[in-house]
Amino acid sequence: MSDLDELAATSLAAVEESADEKSLEALRVRLLGRKGVLTGHLKNLGALPAEQRPAAGQQINLIKNRLQEAIELRRLALERESLDSRLQAEKIDVSLPGRRRASGGLHPVTITLDRITRIFRAAGYDVAEGPEIEDEYHNFEALNIPENHPARAMHDTFYVEPGTVLRTHTSPVQVHVMEKGEPPFRMICPGRVYRCDSDLTHTPMFHQVEGLLVDRNVSMADMKGTIVSFLRAFFEEAVDVRFRPSYFPFTEPSAEVDMTCVACGGKGCRICRHTGWLEVMGCGMVHPRVLEMSGVDTAAYNGFAFGLGVERLAMLRYQVGDLRMFFENDVRFLGQFN
Ligand code: PHE
Repeated sequence: MSDLDELAATSLAAVEESADEKSLEALRVRLLGRKGVLTGHLKNLGALPAEQRPAAGQQINLIKNRLQEAIELRRLALERESLDSRLQAEKIDVSLPGRRRASGGLHPVTITLDRITRIFRAAGYDVAEGPEIEDEYHNFEALNIPENHPARAMHDTFYVEPGTVLRTHTSPVQVHVMEKGEPPFRMICPGRVYRCDSDLTHTPMFHQVEGLLVDRNVSMADMKGTIVSFLRAFFEEAVDVRFRPSYFPFTEPSAEVDMTCVACGGKGCRICRHTGWLEVMGCGMVHPRVLEMSGVDTAAYNGFAFGLGVERLAMLRYQVGDLRMFFENDVRFLGQFN
């Protein structure tokens, strides 16, 4: 009997000392398993005299129960310990700032196009688009620029094949719109245009916005009012605007539009070449021949048109000194417009 007491004491001590769940399980098998020490004792009961058996059996079962209980308690304690240390090891400091996902932004040319579009939409203009690969008829003839007309030389045209060009301006979209619809027309056409020209201030591809208004009794004053209002809305400044006589084959009369230099306020600086004025677009009253060729009745209708360079306006609005910045895709430059 004292053997059993000692076994109980050492076993309980071993349970308390077991350092992890694996060695605890091994201990359990060694004590209580089918071939375990305690099971062995139970099996040996038969060797005892009959009158001792009940008391001995009871004692063994008591020890067995105590051990089982102790093992279960230890197992729970070890489980909690390992969970605690795992939680400790995998702790996340939720107060640390998160890693930011860099987000893209719109290109300054797109931002400028959107801005121009928004202003004209608010004035009731529709937005039209046309093909960038254009036939010579729409790019030139229908705009009163016949073959051998000296104005063709101004256009530095990319030919895709004889008779087909990359449009040199957005004016051919005027023609498409007039051919398809019935006046009145009030539309702008934003888009890419191409010219075989590349230096500090010219890129082979750039963006224009064309404007066209055709209605009854349209006057040059309507055109001037429209353009002045647009420029003041675009630059958010009460800029002065002047119209200088100019020439385009598709408008008559034609004008070049200048506005107060936004960099110096008109005092004269490097950007306006010390004139105080910046040239921002071309415009004019649509030439009657252009209207007629596209099927507009010139006895009832007339109109005005204008064309502006988007990169030019973006450079002036954002004070960008070099046109090429728009096409180099340097994220340090582009990121400033987000
Ligand atoms: N198409 C002309 C250009 O590209 C601009 C313009 C458009 C001028 C409409 C007058 C009227 O230079």
